[in-house]
Amino acid sequence: MVESWQDVRVLVTGGSQGIGVGIARAFATAGAQVVVTGRSAERLAAACERLAGEGAAVTGLVADVARRDGCHRMVAEAAELLGGLDVLCANAGVYPEQRIEDLTEEFVDEVLDTNLKGTIFAVQAAVPHLVASGRGRVVVTTSITGPTTGYPGLAVYAASKAAQLGFVRTAALELAPHGITVNAVSPGAIRTEGLAGLGEEAIDAMTRVIPAGRLGEPDDIGAAALYLAGLGASFVTGQELVVDGGQVLPEHPDAVSA
Ligand SMILES: NC(=O)c1ccc[n+]([C@@H]2O[C@H](COP(=O)([O-])OP(=O)(O)OC[C@H]3O[C@@H](n4cnc5c(N)ncnc54)[C@H](OP(=O)(O)O)[C@@H]3O)[C@@H](O)[C@H]2O)c1
Repeated sequence: MVESWQDVRVLVTGGSQGIGVGIARAFATAGAQVVVTGRSAERLAAACERLAGEGAAVTGLVADVARRDGCHRMVAEAAELLGGLDVLCANAGVYPEQRIEDLTEEFVDEVLDTNLKGTIFAVQAAVPHLVASGRGRVVVTTSITGPTTGYPGLAVYAASKAAQLGFVRTAALELAPHGITVNAVSPGAIRTEGLAGLGEEAIDAMTRVIPAGRLGEPDDIGAAALYLAGLGASFVTGQELVVDGGQVLPEHPDAVSA
């Protein structure tokens, strides 16, 4: 039976560009009601216009997930707009680079506030709505960086992403009695505006080690999030779905071309 998404209400944080747009597109194209968030009203408006042009209408909501009160305000306003909430995609994240010897407290706080605390408090704020939904779903965008791999300059980012995964596993346990599933999608290298900021050289190097021979696209992550939020995944919780074109598989660099 084809699943109906018509009455499913979805909040995608960090939905104004990159992976969040791919996630929003997947849900909106399926027929769900979608609110996307980000800090920049301009970026949000551009994303909403672009998606509407593709026949995937979504509503934009300006919100900063780096503070607990911001997360709670965001979820309350999204639930108001949607008339409730069934699916939270906690996707907003930043990945600035800094070598360990140069780390400052401000830098560490910036990364952890958005990536880790932003996930934790968005989920906390969403719980009452997801309980009321009766088919609550949380999909957290983590990364292969941290849970599985490392990358020089991204130690704090990697720590934030591994921590998200730890949070997912215990949140899955706490929320299972309410019929809520909590899972993670761990992207490999995905072609986004944020990734472009790492520079051509870094992107070429990333592409060379992907067995699939290409970078991922935001829509690849959207498809994974849609699966985890669907009724077919109602018995899947506390899991990490790696979406990376096989990037973490080779036991030696030569294995990619062998
Ligand atoms: N691209 C990859 O290769 C890759 C790989 C693995 C994991 N990821 C993860 O995927 C997620 C999205 O990455 P991306 O590459 O799509 O990044 P991106 O292109 O830089 O987009 C990030 C999104 O998050 C929003 N955002 C950032 N900080 C925020 C905050 N404090 N509050 C609210 N929104 C915020 C941004 O909007 P504003 O700036 O307007 O707020 C934007 O919509 C992140 O969690 C990242 O760690 C990405």
